[in-house]
Amino acid sequence: MEILNLYNITLIDGDGIGPEITQAVVEIIEAAGVKINWEKCLAGARAYEKFSDTIPEETIKSIEKNKICLKAPITTPIGTGFKSVNVALRRHFDLYANVRPSKNLPAVKTPFNDVDLVIIRENTEDIYAGIENKIDENTIHGVKLITRAGCERICEFAFEYALKNNRSKVGVVTKANISKLADGMFLNTFREVSKKYNNIETHEILVDNLCMQLVQKPSQFDVLVMPNLYGDIVSDLCAGLIGGLGVAQSANIGKSCAIFEAVHGSAPDIAGLGIANPTGLLRSACMMLNYIGEIEAGKNIEKALFEVLQEGKALTKDLGGNATSEEFKKEIIKKLAK
Ligand code: NAI
Repeated sequence: MEILNLYNITLIDGDGIGPEITQAVVEIIEAAGVKINWEKCLAGARAYEKFSDTIPEETIKSIEKNKICLKAPITTPIGTGFKSVNVALRRHFDLYANVRPSKNLPAVKTPFNDVDLVIIRENTEDIYAGIENKIDENTIHGVKLITRAGCERICEFAFEYALKNNRSKVGVVTKANISKLADGMFLNTFREVSKKYNNIETHEILVDNLCMQLVQKPSQFDVLVMPNLYGDIVSDLCAGLIGGLGVAQSANIGKSCAIFEAVHGSAPDIAGLGIANPTGLLRSACMMLNYIGEIEAGKNIEKALFEVLQEGKALTKDLGGNATSEEFKKEIIKKLAK
């Protein structure tokens, strides 16, 4: 008799479209034959309503215990209100590496068909350290925090990722011509770390030039490592290269914990309509399956997803179709059953 692993994984189904896409993803994973004991926890706006806390203690404890979490998007007030739950979780669990692969999907039409790159974004420092002071009513002092240890571990992560994933080139992205100390240290650390990885080609590029080159010839890039803010912006640009936020996946990895989440937000404009695209969260879940060693299941889900996209009969509105999230999910499950 085949003995199946049973995984304990924390599940945060988020705000807005979060619960809709999470339900679809949970059912697809089940249909792929992976047995998961989902520990459902709250974070974000709904957690605040119930516990007056955006990240309740029981959510923290659950992630600490399980070490793995699948998380749907959370609403964060812009400019005012509570601080970003995402940033707080990344900092609490020291999830220093944000991994965002961008590769063309079958039948998702974009200006390019040869995009295959991975952004490795430093996830805990830079302006996200949240150090801002009011000097007076009209002057704010915001700090860009960069540490040598932070630069070292993210550069090492990028090279190790390249090795493990058979990638041949790692580029470092900075604005070291202007930020001579902070980005200068990131760049110099990259140069130091690269000496340990002789088989991997390296290159250096300024973030403004990178943006221009990405929208002209993205195929020239492979793995790109960069500080937090550039990574945030450039990785959304790269999501645009492969069909938009609805299809992009990401992982936040630390030494002892990992949180997998879609790149997009809680999409309040379409919440509750049942038309959200679960692809971004589903692909993030595939990264999670890969991480826990359920590689075959992850591959099977991707294959089923690609077939559904290729056929084009059950696409959600953001991909030019008129299927509901439910219909999209059912099509994927049908493929998995074959
Ligand atoms: P958003 O990503 O929620 O929405 C941008 C546009 O993309 C909207 O038109 C939305 O309908 C569409 N969209 C996003 N995901 C989609 C999906 N799966 N299927 C179909 N269409 C989709 O970005 P927005 O509006 O800037 O942010 C809304 C909220 O989400 C804010 O509170 C923001 O702070 C939060 N947010 C949370 C993130 C997270 O939890 N990881 C990441 C980004 C934003």
